[in-house]
Amino acid sequence: MQTTPHENVLPIEGSGRVLARYDRRIGSILAEEGKLTAEDVERVMELQQANGLRFGEGALRLGLITEDDLRCAVAKQYDLPHLVPGSESISSELVVAYEPFHPRAEEMRALRTQLLMRWSKAGVRHRVLAIASPGPGEGRSYVAANLAVAFSQLGERTLLIDADLRAPRQHGIFNVPDRIGLTAVLSGRADRGAVVPAREFGRLSLLPAGVPPPNPQELISRPALGAFVQEMCHEFDIILFDTPPAKFYADALNVAFRAGGAVLLARKDHTRLADTTGVIRELSDTGVRVVGTVLNAF
Ligand SMILES: Nc1ncnc2c1ncn2[C@@H]1O[C@H](COP(=O)(O)OP(=O)(O)OP(=O)(O)O)[C@@H](O)[C@H]1O
Ligand SMILES: [Mg+2]
Repeated sequence: MQTTPHENVLPIEGSGRVLARYDRRIGSILAEEGKLTAEDVERVMELQQANGLRFGEGALRLGLITEDDLRCAVAKQYDLPHLVPGSESISSELVVAYEPFHPRAEEMRALRTQLLMRWSKAGVRHRVLAIASPGPGEGRSYVAANLAVAFSQLGERTLLIDADLRAPRQHGIFNVPDRIGLTAVLSGRADRGAVVPAREFGRLSLLPAGVPPPNPQELISRPALGAFVQEMCHEFDIILFDTPPAKFYADALNVAFRAGGAVLLARKDHTRLADTTGVIRELSDTGVRVVGTVLNAF
């Protein structure tokens, strides 16, 4: 994924002073979580002094904590709530949640930063975005899900709406029920109550697609979608939409129109340039602001 350069979030190689502060906080987080006793902390500090190790390394070397314990503590220190691999029924595709220091997670945070800067520069009040791309399998669902988690990690009240009524996936990624969702809202059978909190991520909520309808395009083009977005703008700071492939289904354009903005993905060595420029033209002709384009390399 191509994004602009950004600062590494972990000052691991920082000055001695930064490291000392880092170590002290990691030690106290591990102690607060009951991973280390006061006696353990003493032992780690002795080893640290003898070998010049960082606290986490020392604790690992003594076998007092696991790699996961350390990763959790570091994530907590940097305010990146995350999940321990294998301990949840949530998809491992959520790299931002499982491995906050993985290069892909950093790319997602870089994209988040770019979007926040562009919104701020343009004075955009309602931060609503469709994640779009021309063809199938280009990473829309993956990017929408990870970006939503990344925004919520910043403390933004984030709503992720699965508007891919043809091949919905967000309920599977976040492991939430999909019986009631966007289709029920658009057909007047459900209201805001269909939005479910993603419990693992304090500030993230999800509206799954719901039962697949026979008429997705007709449902999506109803004014109910615009009204629902307006209503949700009072409750959420950021709303993201997953969408179907824009080249094949007009739903994607309709969703982007209701959102007012879009991020356009292209998959490296896969998406044709002509398709990307075609979708950008269509979005612009409809008055949709293309806030960013992302080259998804995977
Ligand atoms: N940046 C990435 N890094 C690693 N894997 C990725 C990345 N982007 C997408 N993938 C993987 O590629 C596959 C397709 O991605 P995804 O389902 O998000 O695409 P899509 O555009 O939503 O497809 P569809 O047309 O089926 O809706 C998934 O297995 C996903 O985990
Ligand atoms: Mg998808």
